[in-house]
Amino acid sequence: MKNRQVVLKQRPNGIPAPQHFEAVTADIELTPAEGQIAVKNLYLSIDPAMRGWVSLEENYLPPVQIGEVMRSVTVGEVVASAHPNYRTGDIVYGLFGWQKYAVTEVDPLVRKVDPELAPISTALGALGPNGLTALLVLEQIGKVQPGQTVLISTAAGGVGSIAGQIAKLKGARCIGLTGSDEKRALCTEEFGYDIAINYKTSADLAAEIREAAPEGIHFFFDNTSGTIADAVYPSMAQGGRVAQVGTAAIASWDELPMGPRRDRFILTKRLTIQGFVMLDYFALYPDALKSLAGWYQRGELNYRESITEGLENAPLALTQLYEGTNTGKQLVKI
Ligand SMILES: NC(=O)c1ccc[n+]([C@@H]2O[C@H](COP(=O)([O-])OP(=O)(O)OC[C@H]3O[C@@H](n4cnc5c(N)ncnc54)[C@H](OP(=O)(O)O)[C@@H]3O)[C@@H](O)[C@H]2O)c1
Repeated sequence: MKNRQVVLKQRPNGIPAPQHFEAVTADIELTPAEGQIAVKNLYLSIDPAMRGWVSLEENYLPPVQIGEVMRSVTVGEVVASAHPNYRTGDIVYGLFGWQKYAVTEVDPLVRKVDPELAPISTALGALGPNGLTALLVLEQIGKVQPGQTVLISTAAGGVGSIAGQIAKLKGARCIGLTGSDEKRALCTEEFGYDIAINYKTSADLAAEIREAAPEGIHFFFDNTSGTIADAVYPSMAQGGRVAQVGTAAIASWDELPMGPRRDRFILTKRLTIQGFVMLDYFALYPDALKSLAGWYQRGELNYRESITEGLENAPLALTQLYEGTNTGKQLVKI
């Protein structure tokens, strides 16, 4: 039978756009070999990390090759199984790529999704990588304590919308930075933030942050780097911690933006800065997923999704993610 796939056509320099990808038709037999499963994808994930995955810059995963199916976590339905733990009809999460069908090994990342718990799409967002990132960063790097002040950038996105709520559940005071007034309102109304600032319209972002955190920021959950982070560092508290989780504000790694240097603040404020890659915390996923599910079941965790229809529109959805058109988790529904 025929499979529909979106493959990498050429490498972007900076933000990926539709012309860097191509939709192709390929033959596939849905007859898994022993130990494999065949999956029909239902939802694809759209992630800022994809910019790094299609680049030759040094990264934590090898680059997607030209002509290769775009790497992506997805949620799908098992349509044939030659694995003892998986049956036809099971809903599964895994790295199945931007394609309609995948016949694949059951690697350690693959897991069953419980459709009774929540809509299955949440396995890619609030009850999946976004929720895990939010929780693990706040606990493992932030070590956030009640009464502390936390600042989170990309506050209304997939990770940020969950991180604000978890920080609140942990008793922190929470400041969010986001790129529109609509998202700002959602941050304070739905995503747990005490204060949200529109970094795009702020006349003096550093001053607004200082005013929002007069006692200093104990933990900075940095998803953007760039000039946004430059505006945060002067307001860090003594002994504060920073997690470098993303670099959304850096458009191209060929031309790194130059801003006020942060080194002096790191020194005088005795800051600790640590990079975060969620794959490093694999052993903690089961407990973290249980915590997220518990909050969700008790009605303590909201989520939002922006859903684009159609496999062929995945590249456009990726470009739009960098334009900030999404609220909460950006997905593609097949
Ligand atoms: N290290 C890890 O293991 C890991 C895992 C998951 C996610 N992350 C990181 O977490 C961050 C959020 O990921 P996500 O999946 O939740 O994406 P997201 O926040 O849903 O989407 C990206 C958001 O980035 C903001 N943005 C885009 N271009 C920007 C720019 N030039 N300057 C500032 N902000 C910009 C936009 O929000 P606004 O409209 O508010 O600007 C956009 O909605 C990303 O940096 C991602 O790389 C890291």
